[in-house]
Amino acid sequence: MTPATNKSLPRLIERTTDKSAMESDIARILIHRDRIQARVRTLANEIAATYNGGKTGLTLVPILSGSIIFLADLIRELPLKMKLALVQISTYPGAATAPGAPRTVLGLSGDVTGRDVLIVDDILDSGRTLRCVREMIRSRGPRSVRSAVLLRKPSKAPPDLPVEFVGFDIEDLFVVGYGLDYNDHYRNYPHVGVLHSGLMP
Ligand code: IMP
Ligand code: MG
Repeated sequence: MTPATNKSLPRLIERTTDKSAMESDIARILIHRDRIQARVRTLANEIAATYNGGKTGLTLVPILSGSIIFLADLIRELPLKMKLALVQISTYPGAATAPGAPRTVLGLSGDVTGRDVLIVDDILDSGRTLRCVREMIRSRGPRSVRSAVLLRKPSKAPPDLPVEFVGFDIEDLFVVGYGLDYNDHYRNYPHVGVLHSGLMP
C-alpha cells in the first residue's frame, strides 16, 4: 500500500460512516424513490400537454435549494424546449421547522418578460415562499405564471394560492430527502422520509 492510499483511508471510512449516519437518522420512508420517479413522469406529461410543446416560450423557475432534485428529474422527462431562471429564497433558516418571513437570497437570474413561467418547488407548506416568488415574477411581465410542487400539505396550504401541478398531498409532517433538508442535511436522501423525533426541536 502506498503512503497516498494510506492517507485516503480514514477519509473513506469517515464518508461511509456519514452515509449510514444519515440513514439511521430517518425514522421511516414516507414516499419511496420508485413512487416519486413514476409520479414525476406523469407530472411531466401533464406539464408538456399544458404548454403545447413550449412554442410560446417556456421558462422554469426552480426555487433553490429544495427544488434541485425534483427539477433535475422533472426536466429530463419534459420533451419541451425550455429555459431556466433561478431564484433562491430562505424561509426556514438553519434548524427552523416553522416558516419565517421569506428572504430573497438570490434574485431571479433570467428575464421572464413575455414568457410562460412555471415555478418549481419541493413543497407547499404555508405558501409564503410560493406567494413571494409569484409576486416577484408577476412584476416582470410574464405571459403566464403557473406552479409545480412535488409535495403539498393540504391542511396548511392557503386556498387562494393557485398551484396547477402537485406530485403528492401529504399530512402535516416535517419531511426530508429528495432535495428537502433539515438544517441543510438530508437533501441527498433518495426517498422522502421523516426524521426521528429526537433530532428536531
Ligand atoms: P412555505 O413557504 O411555508 O410554503 O414553505 C416552503 C419552503 O419551506 C419550501 O420551499 C421548503 O424549502 C421549506 N419546507 C416547508 N416544509 C418543509 C418540510 O417539511 N421539510 C423541509 N423543508 C420544508
Ligand atoms: Mg425551499
